[in-house]
Amino acid sequence: MKVLVIGGGGREHALIQKLSESKEITSLYCAPGNGGIAALATCVPIKATDIDALADYAVNEKMDYVVVAPDDPLCLGLVDLLAERGIPAFGPSKAAARIEGSKIFSKDLMKKYQIPTAGYEAFDDMDKAIAYVKTVQCPVVVKADGLALGKGVIICENNAEAEAAVTEMMANGKFGKSGSRVVVEEFLTGPEVSVLCFCDGKTLKPMLSSMDHKRALDGDQGLNTGGMGVIAPNPYYTAEIAQTCMDTIFLPTLKAMQKEGCPFKGCLYFGLMLTPNGTKVIEYNCRFGDPETQAVLPLLRSDLFTIMRATTDGTLATTDVTFADGTSCCVVLASGGYPEAYETGKVINGLAEASELAHPYHAGTKLDDQGRIVTAGGRVLGVTATANTLPDAITLAYKASDLISFDGLHRRSDIGQLALKASTTTSKED
Ligand code: AMP
Ligand code: GLY
Repeated sequence: MKVLVIGGGGREHALIQKLSESKEITSLYCAPGNGGIAALATCVPIKATDIDALADYAVNEKMDYVVVAPDDPLCLGLVDLLAERGIPAFGPSKAAARIEGSKIFSKDLMKKYQIPTAGYEAFDDMDKAIAYVKTVQCPVVVKADGLALGKGVIICENNAEAEAAVTEMMANGKFGKSGSRVVVEEFLTGPEVSVLCFCDGKTLKPMLSSMDHKRALDGDQGLNTGGMGVIAPNPYYTAEIAQTCMDTIFLPTLKAMQKEGCPFKGCLYFGLMLTPNGTKVIEYNCRFGDPETQAVLPLLRSDLFTIMRATTDGTLATTDVTFADGTSCCVVLASGGYPEAYETGKVINGLAEASELAHPYHAGTKLDDQGRIVTAGGRVLGVTATANTLPDAITLAYKASDLISFDGLHRRSDIGQLALKASTTTSKED
């Protein structure tokens, strides 16, 4: 089988690594790919947002299956376009991708089907939004309705900050069209959990839970990023909480999407917060998380390609989805300055040595004209180690990352520390 994967980050490297282990796949292609993916797949220089060119390429090259990993092509309708042209694909339809592509769609869905989430008001009129945030109880969270590269969420400590956030989005066009409508949401507290679930429209099978570390600096300080590191499984997510989530969040969401006429197929990402008033949905994503995927997939025992096709064919109920017992830790190595301005083109050393201990998944890298791997993005690598225990996985991931160097390298030094606190509390209570 010829399989094309869309995307070019650490998530896609982890997906391709796992797909390359499937016996059914004879050749792998990736558009656009990156410096690490090039070792496992033929990289094709087409942007993930150029859905017409991607569909033409898939048809002309007679792809048997396409995996659409990033949010943009999903929200633009690449899966629908491929289906029209006779090519099955992994991922939701354009209508189902609205669960991530529009915060107002997802908040209204949760309200309608009583799925626990933060209280909110939605606005498409700036004057009304401003009048509301002038008096609302703070802190509040102001969110752009549409996709904003993970940056469209502003936590506001007071009314003046909330007013400024609304103005930035609705008047100054900070996030373009994505910010022309906004959601103003109640501020919640508690540990966060990411749960990625395979879905075929009617059946849902969760993967291992995980914990992302979104802030740029140690101790959850600094700006929000795409994610600076992940551990899996998440020790705060007990079997009891998992069952409650299945009953009150996961299955109700799947059913709600069916009732709305847009059954969800692909990977549905639940961003959850374990608040003092129970578990609530912070966000949905219509795709695998990045870097959650880099921590979760190395522990997947079943064949990823078989599962993906089952989500497309509607046969997930009878398909095996099992994980190994271990733990994993992914430490992101970023370019200095990320998530703001950073330099690229820095030579990366130590990848071969690090590979002896862990998987250094490539995110923002490329091969330069001298055949060297150089930095090409904000998040450069996601170094993932697996081990029997969480402390061992953390130690190994840092040991492997210590072997890698490039100019300006920035990483957090506390990935997994919050999770370790939960593990200690749990074992003391035991
Ligand atoms: P999102 O892009 O919606 O995942 O938001 C990014 C991050 O902002 C989340 O991972 C949370 O840490 C934080 N956040 C979003 N919504 C809320 C909320 N209602 N209360 C507290 N923190 C939030
Ligand atoms: N790691 C967060 C995301 O994928 O959106």
